[in-house]
Amino acid sequence: MIKYNSEEKIFHLQTKNTSYVMGVFREKHLIQLYYGKKIKEYRNIEDNFPVLGVGAFVSRDIPNCHYTTNNLPMEYSCYGSVDVHTPAFHAIYADGSHVTKLEYAGHEIFSGKKPLKGLPATYAEDGDNVETLEVTLRDELKGVEIILSYTDFEDTDAIAKSVRVKNNSADNINIKSILSSVTHVFDKDYEFVHLEGSWARERSVQRVPLMNGTMSIDSKRLSSSHDHSPFVAIARKGATENTGEVIGHSFVYSGNHIEEAETDSYGLTVIRVGINPFNFNWILEGGEEFQAPEVIITYSANGFGQMSRNFHKLYRTRLCRGKYRDIERPVLINNWEATYFDFNEEKILSIAKKAKSVGVELMVLDDGWFGKRDKDNCSLGDWYADRRKLPNGIEGIAKKVNDLGMQFGLWFEPEMVSPDSDLYRAHPDWCLHVDGRPRHEGRNQLVLDMSRKDVCDYVVEALTKVLSSAPISYVKWDYNRNASEIGSDLLPAERQQEVPHRYMLGLYDVLERITAAFPDVLFEGCSGGGGRYDAGMLPYFSQYWTSDDTDACERLYIQHGTSMVMPSCTMGAHVSAVPNHQMHRTTPLKMRGNVAMMGQFGYELDLNKLTDEEIEEVKQQIITYKSIRETVHKGEMYRLRSPFECDCAVWEYVDENKVVMLHATSHTRVDLPRTMVKLEGLCEDAEYINTATGIVYRGDYLMNVGISIKNRFDYQSELYVFEKVK
Ligand code: DGJ
Repeated sequence: MIKYNSEEKIFHLQTKNTSYVMGVFREKHLIQLYYGKKIKEYRNIEDNFPVLGVGAFVSRDIPNCHYTTNNLPMEYSCYGSVDVHTPAFHAIYADGSHVTKLEYAGHEIFSGKKPLKGLPATYAEDGDNVETLEVTLRDELKGVEIILSYTDFEDTDAIAKSVRVKNNSADNINIKSILSSVTHVFDKDYEFVHLEGSWARERSVQRVPLMNGTMSIDSKRLSSSHDHSPFVAIARKGATENTGEVIGHSFVYSGNHIEEAETDSYGLTVIRVGINPFNFNWILEGGEEFQAPEVIITYSANGFGQMSRNFHKLYRTRLCRGKYRDIERPVLINNWEATYFDFNEEKILSIAKKAKSVGVELMVLDDGWFGKRDKDNCSLGDWYADRRKLPNGIEGIAKKVNDLGMQFGLWFEPEMVSPDSDLYRAHPDWCLHVDGRPRHEGRNQLVLDMSRKDVCDYVVEALTKVLSSAPISYVKWDYNRNASEIGSDLLPAERQQEVPHRYMLGLYDVLERITAAFPDVLFEGCSGGGGRYDAGMLPYFSQYWTSDDTDACERLYIQHGTSMVMPSCTMGAHVSAVPNHQMHRTTPLKMRGNVAMMGQFGYELDLNKLTDEEIEEVKQQIITYKSIRETVHKGEMYRLRSPFECDCAVWEYVDENKVVMLHATSHTRVDLPRTMVKLEGLCEDAEYINTATGIVYRGDYLMNVGISIKNRFDYQSELYVFEKVK
């Protein structure tokens, strides 16, 4: 619910458990007053300011007031006048001046939520408890309006914030920075918590105490990257999974981003999230608008667990969309680690046949099916079947897989081009490049210039042709390098810094068109594993390949970190062969299965190479997975033990009828004591039966006494399933 107190000019956004409050101070200045646990009412701005210092040495801009816009928690800061924090908005005007002065000009509250033009975003459905507030700030002198949008998702305790700028003047404006979210905390006793990583080691949780000054993570690579997810939480020092205040920020964007916290000498801390201003400059002509992407913020008074559950629920139900949002997805087998580029129709069909016999539902043909691609050094862009490997084309193999009673899926890397390809020979100007500079290759490939409409149209056309030519039920959309020489032939010199964002707009447009044209196809995202696994991808990709590291121990870290923001129903997780191809580690089939079952389950090996005994185990895994996936994907997740803090992970998923708990050990030592794991989120008075042992426990027992676990040996894993009996 969004309330407006017109007398005191206070906006109060209330969700089930939180309050976000802003006020218009002295008729002009929009300031942030509070974000935290729900309060009934907020009053008396002037008598009880959330400011910490009056600020010596700064210019004074509010008459008869101790404070300045530098010392007040400005809701949306701009550069050039008194506020000397890093600005959320920075522009250069036609006369060369850099000064923007934004003052409150009006607001509107309405039910529901508008789409964000050209960008992925959360949405509301009829009957949702969702309202939106739009506040307009204006710079009269320059004819600039900033519209701040706040959507209150009452039931998920989340607020979607975004920013739009309108140029009402006749002159061009150069926008240097337009960040999407500014939030404040009023002391610095917090930690900056983020997810760092690299290829095959995505999303490790890192916590650093705030310091005076600015700390930040970012990407300048054209994609959100493996290195820094577009996420930051500001957490009370020592906050745990279920205690302490945490404010999570997740950016719904897949390109260059920044998440920063600036703490001034008085402890006032400003957290800003948005498009990275580095290498960004947008020329906004008179009469034009620019829409910045949205940021989802959520406050939890009860630690990281609640923050994650808020993100999971919102993203699963109001960011993910399409046919596969609510339905169970097929168990798949992917041939990548089974064959790499060395396959033919016969080999793929033999993998499919065996997979069908154990209950797998979808056969995915990965990289290497097109052009003349026997290695990663050619053919990206030439999306037609390699008849040496597939004499009957895609249609032929897809039909044969269908005849086995399975669906068929196909890999693409649509945003790339190999220099050795027909596409590149025909259109050497279609890749990102800068004249006079070498076109540096990554994995022997160049990045297509998705800021160009003709390139986007080509990508849509090429994919449409293949997808309409055969019964293809699934697409894996890969993206395997970071960009360099980010320039475009079609834009003039002064607009070259628009390329990174125009690339994203082009990509989102292509994804929108393809997913709308093929609503029955299940799309899985991938970027060398989880390199672009961000909230901006979720409207298009129902699931995402979490990491190229399929080792079960490594996956404990990767899936744990990923679950800070991403719901398990979006996490692609496969059982692969041992020794593992990335780690050379040999873990039991049981552990590989149990860990993969905590995501979107599949296999990535040649099942023909397994023993009869192992095949029986695989059959059983698929039966087990199908019996628990509803709870794992749609239930609430509780992280009961973190592999970052001890030698095991314990994850629990709870819905109305069932509780699923995984305990998995990476490495341990001899004769360590048992520990009690206390379950969470159960009904105290209900009874739960352990389906393996038949033992019945009360909810209060499981939550207070707990289940005794012991890390007895490396790679041990135990899946517990409790059904609610009454
Ligand atoms: C990177 C992906 O993450 C892998 O799963 C596989 O699809 C390869 N690309 C294929 O080149």
